[in-house]
Amino acid sequence: MTTPVLQAHALKVAYEGRTVIDGLDLSITQGQITTFVGANGSGKSTLLKTLGRILKPTAGNVTLEGRPIRELTTKDVARRLAILPQSPTAPAGITVRDLVMRGRNPHQTWARPWSAEDARIVADALAETGLTEVADRDVSALSGGQRQRVWIALVVAQQAATLLLDEPTTYLDLTHQLSVLRLVRRINTDTGATVVMVLHDLSLAARYSDRLVVLADGAVVADGPPETVLTPETLRTAFALHARVVPDPVTGTPLVVPEADDHLPTESPA
Ligand SMILES: Nc1ncnc2c1ncn2[C@@H]1O[C@H](COP(=O)(O)OP(=O)(O)O)[C@@H](O)[C@H]1O
Ligand SMILES: [Mg+2]
Repeated sequence: MTTPVLQAHALKVAYEGRTVIDGLDLSITQGQITTFVGANGSGKSTLLKTLGRILKPTAGNVTLEGRPIRELTTKDVARRLAILPQSPTAPAGITVRDLVMRGRNPHQTWARPWSAEDARIVADALAETGLTEVADRDVSALSGGQRQRVWIALVVAQQAATLLLDEPTTYLDLTHQLSVLRLVRRINTDTGATVVMVLHDLSLAARYSDRLVVLADGAVVADGPPETVLTPETLRTAFALHARVVPDPVTGTPLVVPEADDHLPTESPA
């Protein structure tokens, strides 16, 4: 039987009175990689932030490991759940190691300050993400691909059982996108961590996810294994995209191939 680690019940989220999500139910299964996909502005980040308690819903609620998330302390949440926002910014002048060390903050108390165990976990996170050599460099001096790995190393060092990653591959070339996604999957396989992420590349999302949740206008319009979710019909309704879906010749997962221009209907997308 599958255990929901994170659940949204009748979730409603608004910005300054404008409702963006209206009555959404979702249950995230432990140990799975679930990926939110959807057009720009469809509510992916809003949903992820609400699940991670960065945003407070105007109605409904979120439960983490069966308890209402709003009743947990900030430290309690941070020990169980790590969130990587869409465009994180590092403090000026911080080194790679110092930023990754911040992942250990939720585990420290007055009675248990920084320990050798914390140092070991940070060293492991740096090694796992291939950053040991640049650990003493300034974060701002790194390439985009390295910097993205630093944020993931921070999340790894936090040792939370649930990871929420908003567009962890944005601005990366294909090689670095693959390296981040392989890393995410390795963490999922090795530690059993539950992963919820947002991705734009549908074919990569299909390769690296157990489940896709398609959002449109703040609502779930398709939900399930990539093979059942990525259909031409869903692509048309959720993305105004005219595409074929063929088996990926390498993995067999759905590969989204946009139609040639002369196959497109003459009306422009809404
Ligand atoms: N801070 C904000 N203030 C007001 N409106 C916002 C804010 N963030 C997002 N929105 C609006 O909420 C909707 C969903 O946005 P978002 O969750 O960021 O979508 P996505 O991540 O799918 O691109 C959009 O209409 C967006 O304009
Ligand atoms: Mg977003």
